Amino acid sequence: MVKLATSCSTLGYAMAGATIAAATAAEAWIGRGDEQAAEEAAARAMRDALNAIDFSGRVIVGEADISVLNVGEAVGTGEGIELDVALEALEGTTLTAKAMPNALAVIAAAPRGGLLQAPDLYMEKLAIGPGFARGTIDLDAGAGENAVRLAKAKGVHVREITACVLDRPRHEKIIADLRSVGARINLIPDGDVAGAIAAAMPEAGIDMYVGQGKAPEGVLAAAALRCVGGQMQARFAFRNEAEKYQAQRSGLTDIGRRYELDDLVKGDVIFSATGVTKGSLLDGVGRTAAGIATHTMLMSSADGVLRMIRSVTPQRG
Ligand code: FBP
Repeated sequence: MVKLATSCSTLGYAMAGATIAAATAAEAWIGRGDEQAAEEAAARAMRDALNAIDFSGRVIVGEADISVLNVGEAVGTGEGIELDVALEALEGTTLTAKAMPNALAVIAAAPRGGLLQAPDLYMEKLAIGPGFARGTIDLDAGAGENAVRLAKAKGVHVREITACVLDRPRHEKIIADLRSVGARINLIPDGDVAGAIAAAMPEAGIDMYVGQGKAPEGVLAAAALRCVGGQMQARFAFRNEAEKYQAQRSGLTDIGRRYELDDLVKGDVIFSATGVTKGSLLDGVGRTAAGIATHTMLMSSADGVLRMIRSVTPQRG
């Protein structure tokens, strides 16, 4: 498999430029109640930035609700390394429209075949940060048991474990299970890419992410966790026969398969996320006297370094 020998040099910073462009474009729509306009603005800006980068890219996880950056779209100038790209130009459209925390612009890029081509369906997900033995968590165990296992691995009482869960009726059982063992729960309204990555960032105060969210977001979270050495397990969750059919049509042969992190993301990967609204990982886009200020996390599995980038782009005209 091709190696991203450049780790986070030119290519990584160029990818960060694309998430910065998307987040900056989305900023104009924060709190304006128009999810689609925010998503389109972010996606068009991300596409323009990607198309200025010398690489031969193919979107394999992309936008589903708008006509820009869809799965199969070619991105980049067509010159240079061949990469698969997973992206959410705006992860948290509702968060942006309602000016709520944790909306992000996100990209992961890997040599061809490195990212699972996840259809726009739901996945059960379970994620923890780095530093734990393989087998510490188990997607087939209950959420409460996983909290207990993680507490044991950390050498703390389970009451000191905080699990992040999307606030949805479908998570009633997971929530009850976590409460039954005494774990804390951080219920989030949206944005499970940030929720899963938070499990790997000590300052975020999250130990574990658990629950069902969209599969494209799962691949993006897995890319970030791969860079920092976290763990993740996942499995498609179908609400009806039509979704099973959609999974089969998308090329998945074993639709009931349990995915480990290495199945979601293989080999080298670059990950970049820029905050749109302020959140637990990143500050949001801000307008300052000097220009538009952004906050980005850029990572590469090649070196495992997490780079936090603050940029200020002067406003001209
Ligand atoms: P947006 O569509 O508003 O960007 O929401 C994103 C998100 O919260 C993801 O983070 C998550 O995976 C998914 O939606 C959950 O889907 P649902 O809202 O249908 O439960």
